[in-house]
Amino acid sequence: MTKILAFAGSTRDGSFNNAIVKVAAQGAKEAGAEVTLISLADYEMPIFNEDEEAEFGIPENALAFKALLMEHDGFLIASPEYNSSYPALLKNAIDWASRMSEGEKPLQAFKGKVAGIMAASAGGLGGLRVLVVLRMLLENIGMVVNPNQKAIAKVNTLLDDSGNVSDEKTIKQLKNLGKETAELARKLADK
Ligand SMILES: Cc1cc2nc3c(=O)[nH]c(=O)nc-3n(C[C@H](O)[C@H](O)[C@H](O)COP(=O)(O)O)c2cc1C
Repeated sequence: MTKILAFAGSTRDGSFNNAIVKVAAQGAKEAGAEVTLISLADYEMPIFNEDEEAEFGIPENALAFKALLMEHDGFLIASPEYNSSYPALLKNAIDWASRMSEGEKPLQAFKGKVAGIMAASAGGLGGLRVLVVLRMLLENIGMVVNPNQKAIAKVNTLLDDSGNVSDEKTIKQLKNLGKETAELARKLADK
């Protein structure tokens, strides 16, 4: 079965990006994928520093996150847009996961896998600009990024009182992104 890992680049309580990635994850699940939804809050890592890596090795949480990436065929990533780019939290997790342990191939956690990317913001662009640079980053580390993507503008108006996406059109679009990404991952993993 195709395995999809879903996570947001935010650990904020009530994160909009966490709300949207949950819907995309549901779409992937409904398309028949096995989906694991995680929070980066459970994989807290120090800011990457080569000296510390040389002295202490790759931290346990970074190894656990990388192992999780390795187990999955594709990822659904919802990223906040911070100053037109991705947050340090997300980049730092990717940087740690890009480090090779003995016996691994370069960028093994990413290469040849599929990513579906999305963003949400209360602003009018919905984080569209972060998707440009996130796509570039993921492709540069060997991923195939679904040409479809979703930037959800004015996301605060599309949620219910519990912070879940309630707008039907948005739910449909996000689920479709999840489904498409799962199907692409299945084809690429030849499962
Ligand atoms: C440092 C910082 C920079 C931000 N820059 C942008 C931006 O460039 N574009 C945007 O739409 N929102 C920007 N925001 C607002 C975020 O979109 C907003 O905080 C969003 O809720 C974060 O995602 P989350 O809800 O998943 O935590 C910024 C927020 C912070 C803290």
